[in-house]
Amino acid sequence: MAIERTYAMLKPGVLSRRIAGEIITRLERKGFDIVGLKIMRISRELAEIHYAEHKEKPFFGELVDYITSGPVVAMVLEGDQAIKMLRLIAGSTKPLEATPGTIRGDYAMHTNVNIIHASDSPEAAVREIGLFFKPEELLSWKDGNSGWI
Ligand code: PPS
Repeated sequence: MAIERTYAMLKPGVLSRRIAGEIITRLERKGFDIVGLKIMRISRELAEIHYAEHKEKPFFGELVDYITSGPVVAMVLEGDQAIKMLRLIAGSTKPLEATPGTIRGDYAMHTNVNIIHASDSPEAAVREIGLFFKPEELLSWKDGNSGWI
């Protein structure tokens, strides 16, 4: 087993659409352990740091506008190969290419409002967890189901 932590973020609109619970339920049901969870409003400064690698992309401004436009649900998820697993469950960036059954495949129509962010590498996961959470906000716990999931 390769237990990893990854950063997941339900983007603005998810709380307004009242689907946060449904999406979190899917993540729990899959088997991720939620070790960090909070709602927050992201500042422009934090958004620009988070998405710094996309600074030169034509959609950068729109991306920052979107992520700062309302509250997000920030989460740290733990599990076996959690980084790749979460990317799989989130689905392709472009909802038109996201398989039904994935989160974007089931809940999003457009790339610019594609509802969930998931770290794309171990390096990104460490960086993003550190940007959004203090160490004392993360809690490891056991539910006794490790042999069943
Ligand atoms: S790229 O072009 O391959 O580097 O883009 P990608 O890594 O797939 O996406 C980087 C983040 O930008 C978001 N994105 C967009 N936002 C608005 N408009 C357009 N056209 C667009 N294309 C990509 C994409 O959802 C990624 O954000 P996160 O939060 O990681 O999902």
